[in-house]
Amino acid sequence: MWYCVHLFSMEKITIKGRFADSAIFTGERINNLPHYIPSKGVYIITDGNVNAIYRGRFPECPTFVVEPGEASKSIQTVVKIYRWLLDSGADRSSFIVAIGGGVICDIAGFVASTFMRGVKFGFVATSLLAQVDASVGGKNGIDLDGYKNIVGTFNQPQFVICDVSMLITLPRIELANGFAEIVKHAIIADAGQFAFIEANVDRLNACDIEVITPLVEKSIRIKTNIVTADEHESGERRKLNLGHTWGHAVEKVSGLPHGQSVSIGLEFAARLSCSKGVLGNREYFRLINLLRGLKLQVCSTMSQRKIFEALLKDKKKEKDFIHFVLMEGIGSVRVEAISIQELKAFIKIEK
Ligand SMILES: NC(=O)c1ccc[n+]([C@@H]2O[C@H](COP(=O)([O-])OP(=O)(O)OC[C@H]3O[C@@H](n4cnc5c(N)ncnc54)[C@H](O)[C@@H]3O)[C@@H](O)[C@H]2O)c1
Ligand SMILES: [Zn+2]
Repeated sequence: MWYCVHLFSMEKITIKGRFADSAIFTGERINNLPHYIPSKGVYIITDGNVNAIYRGRFPECPTFVVEPGEASKSIQTVVKIYRWLLDSGADRSSFIVAIGGGVICDIAGFVASTFMRGVKFGFVATSLLAQVDASVGGKNGIDLDGYKNIVGTFNQPQFVICDVSMLITLPRIELANGFAEIVKHAIIADAGQFAFIEANVDRLNACDIEVITPLVEKSIRIKTNIVTADEHESGERRKLNLGHTWGHAVEKVSGLPHGQSVSIGLEFAARLSCSKGVLGNREYFRLINLLRGLKLQVCSTMSQRKIFEALLKDKKKEKDFIHFVLMEGIGSVRVEAISIQELKAFIKIEK
């Protein structure tokens, strides 16, 4: 795009996976995609919205267009894509490129990891959430019978291109979904990034690429550092669940978008941290102001009991304790097992 190419340098962030490394490029453009892919045997997977806007910038390759939305993250879609690949003559040397948001990256990553026992693949992440979260870390997967991401693999793409100039066409509600994860990353590990977001709320709301570009890069680095330390999700990676334990339950009960639900989950985690004396009131209010400034919800009129019931259903394996990520301050968190009794008491007090 005319206004960016000369303004921002490209940054390369490498993720060291167990089986392969993955390179994430921020400040890169979709127009340069041909430099990253083989000259033949490339298959593109995208969704209807992204295809309608950006098809003209795709390389000339066979393209499968998925219906936009989470409902497409199904085994039925995957089977259709397998058949399309076979009918189009794909083989073990083929290369799959996802061009889209988190839904497309998850589907394409799963298809590429399983088709003919795995072919190489890369992403052009086009939503903010995909750039800072879904395309980072090597997880992919599909939903089944109402369970999110219940079938999938760990497998790193060869490359991820984060073209921030494509965010300009992203609906506002989708931008907020990405902001929630960016704020989450800052609370987990980077007080400086948090202050940067505070100082640039208006420009971020206006999708000013000049501020979004360094923000995306920093956010990816935070997640990368965590997943590199813990590719298969045992200890450190649990920190990424900040705001998601309560947030997922809110999402289930309310049907609110993911980012809005996570924002409500972040407020809950902060309040719980305050009640345990781990977080100060000043930090709590800084967080609330920031989330509100980014047009994210921090409270809801939903029944706390209903959310809690959904949470227990979600975490049925954890029995008497639930692992919560608590905030120790801006830029520092810790995972703690909290008893169901304690949580019940906390929620009742708040009623
Ligand atoms: N694998 C992981 O580690 C991981 C992490 C977080 C989330 N996810 C998954 O990511 C998915 C959510 O991702 P998402 O929020 O990107 O959803 P999405 O892929 O559905 O994209 C959101 C919407 O924005 C549209 N869109 C995308 N890019 C656009 C652009 N540049 N211009 C205009 N419209 C555009 C899409 O068509 C869609 O309608 C969920 O399925 C979630 O489970 C995966
Ligand atoms: Zn999330």
